[in-house]
Parts: sequence; C-alpha cells; structure tokens
Amino acid sequence: MFEGLHAVPQDPILAMLASYREDTHPQKIDLGIGVYKNDQGDTPIMRAVQVAEARLLATETTKSYTAPAGSPVYNERVAKLVFGSDHPVLNDKRVVSAQTPGGCGALRMAAEFLRGCNEDSKVWVSTPTWANHMPLLGGAGLEICMYPYYDHDNKNIDFQAMLDALESAVAGDIVLLHGCCHNPSGADLNKEQWHAIADLMERKGLIPFVDMAYQGLGAGIDEDAYGLRMLAARFPEMVAATSCSKNFGLYRERTGTLFIVAATPEQAANAGSQLFSKIRSHYSMPPSHGAAIVETILGDTELSQTWLDELAVMRNRIQGLRQSLVAKIRDSAIDRDFSFIEQQFGMFSFLGITSAQVEALRSQHSIYMIDSSRMNVAGLNDECMDYFVSALGEVLRA
Ligand code: LMR
Repeated sequence: MFEGLHAVPQDPILAMLASYREDTHPQKIDLGIGVYKNDQGDTPIMRAVQVAEARLLATETTKSYTAPAGSPVYNERVAKLVFGSDHPVLNDKRVVSAQTPGGCGALRMAAEFLRGCNEDSKVWVSTPTWANHMPLLGGAGLEICMYPYYDHDNKNIDFQAMLDALESAVAGDIVLLHGCCHNPSGADLNKEQWHAIADLMERKGLIPFVDMAYQGLGAGIDEDAYGLRMLAARFPEMVAATSCSKNFGLYRERTGTLFIVAATPEQAANAGSQLFSKIRSHYSMPPSHGAAIVETILGDTELSQTWLDELAVMRNRIQGLRQSLVAKIRDSAIDRDFSFIEQQFGMFSFLGITSAQVEALRSQHSIYMIDSSRMNVAGLNDECMDYFVSALGEVLRA
C-alpha cells in the first residue's frame, strides 16, 4: 500500500531550521524560523514561565483528562488578555473559547468549524502570508483566495489593491487578517486601515478571521490587539486564533486559543458545541502543560507583571535590533535604503534581496533566512551584526 507514495517537499521554514542545525560554521546565523533569541543567541525559558512551572510541579494533583475545550480558567484568562478585560463581547457572553494545540491547532479548528458552517465559503488570505496558512486552512477544505498585501517595490502595504481585491469577495466569505506583526512582512495595518477594512467587510457581509500569533511583540499587548478588539466590537460574528508560542516562549508546549464570537449567547453556545465535537474527532482534547503555565501566570498579579516586563524587554530588543541594523547598513559601504526595516513590527521583515542573494548568504556565509528573503530580526545580536552587514554588502556587490 505504501509503495506508491512519493516524498512531499518539506515545509520551507522547518527545512531551513534543519539545514542551520547541521551547519558547523562558527559564525552561522539563524534568521529563519520565528523564535525569539536573546543577546547570546539563545531562546531561554522566561522567568515567569519557570516560576509557574515549578509551582505546577509542586501542586498538580492529577493528569486525568480535561475536555475538548481545554481548561475553562485558561480560556477565560486568555480571553481577557486578547479582548481586554472589559470587552462587551465578553460581558455579553458572546464568545466561545477553546484552548488548542498551538496557534496551528486554533487555525485548523477554525477552518474546520467555518467549513462546517458553510461549505461554499472562501477564505481570503494576504499575498504573501505565513507558509503554513495554506495547508492549515486549505486542508480543512476551505477554498483559498488571495488579496494583495505587501508591495515589495514600495516596502509597504498596497492598501488600495487590498481593498480592490476584497470587493470581489461575496457575503459569507471569510477574510484572514494578521492581528499584528504580519508574518512574513512585518508591515501592519494602521488604525485608519483597520477601520476601512472593517467598513468594507461590514458592507459586503464578510466574516473577519484574525490570526494573532505575536501579541505583545509589536507595539504592546493592547496596541497589538487594536484591530481584533475593534472588529469584535463591530461585528456580530468573527473568529480569532491566538498563540502563546512567542509571547510566553512556549513554542514546543503547543499552547493556543480559538475564539468564536457569535451574535447571541445562545448562538455562541451552539457554535461551541459544533466546535467541541470537531475537536473531539480530531485530537479529542489539547495538551495541558503549556496552558497550565499560562493560566498560572495570568492568575497571579506579581507573576503577570514579571511576564509583562520580560515581554517588554523582548519587544524593545527587537525594535532596537531593527534600528541598529538600519544604522549599521547606513554606515557601511552599502548604497541602498533599508530604512523600511525600522518602520515594521515583530520578528519579520523582507530584506528585499533576490533568492540568489539569499542562497549566496547561506552557502558563502552560513546566514540562513527564507528564500523570499524573510528574515527573523530577533536572530541578530550585537556580536553577529557586523558579520551580517559585511556579508550582505558582499552579496549585494557580487
Ligand atoms: C515562523 O513563521 O517562522 C513561525 O511561525 C514558526 C513556524 O511554525 O513556521
């Protein structure tokens, strides 16, 4: 039965990580997969996470099953983090939440749920978008349509083209928007653009679907959730997928959340029953450990503050790296404007070089980034910055 199988191409982001790990160059730099790194190039466990984990180890009394929705306490605390503690949709009990295996689990279950609601609806995603969006959403059977987003020439959002493309969406179609720190471009919608998109979606009867995997790593917890919270306040129905991989550094613990906002509490309860039955038939229930850590942190004022302070250090470091990279390039022999990197948010930006130049960085200098030239800015540090800028200069001159 298996003899006819052929190998499928590896996910480009995971393939890059594997090649980086095999590289023995002493100055190799990993700007591929989106993980936060500190000045030493490590991805440490956050202090708040360590404390919460130790507390859990001392107090946990059972490993018995939870439920398809995961922990209700986790769901409630993360909902407050995402929507803000006093959001009308929470007060009106119009949100159903499910703890999921990472943001991927939330995205896939959202797609399964949405397809169950209307098998003809299409999901519109940005060009470009995170490589895994297509298999996660398309794998559930949703038809995928693309809207233009990042303009590589102007290094910014082509907002008019985005609006024009969404004009051809029809009522019931779903529009996937990155809540903050757009992956892969780092180019985020401003408030005015969020409102203009909301006007269009409202006028056309489209359903907002927000993927927010980087809350707190762009401009701040509340700032990054602006678009999501505004849409939730305006629309009777929407979905949102969030992740604790980056902002709690819980990558391998697979901790995320899916939120479904419905028009009434009754409809939310019905939506929940549909969703939980789909979860039951996919993975039954989510893994517990990461969510228990998040729940512990968010339930303790002091620990929450420790976590927020650590997150602010991470955010400021990324923004600082963006500035020092641009300054170093400006002071180098490179005669090209990279100042757009300072205007963007989160871990990623397109460097804007060709795939041949990306390949030259990799083969000649052991500097790894995705072929599209998406780089994880957080992978840089003071020690490797000069090496990086000089290698970049070399490949640009070649
Ligand atoms: C990325 O885009 O690099 C991250 O979201 C990690 C992943 O799973 O692809």
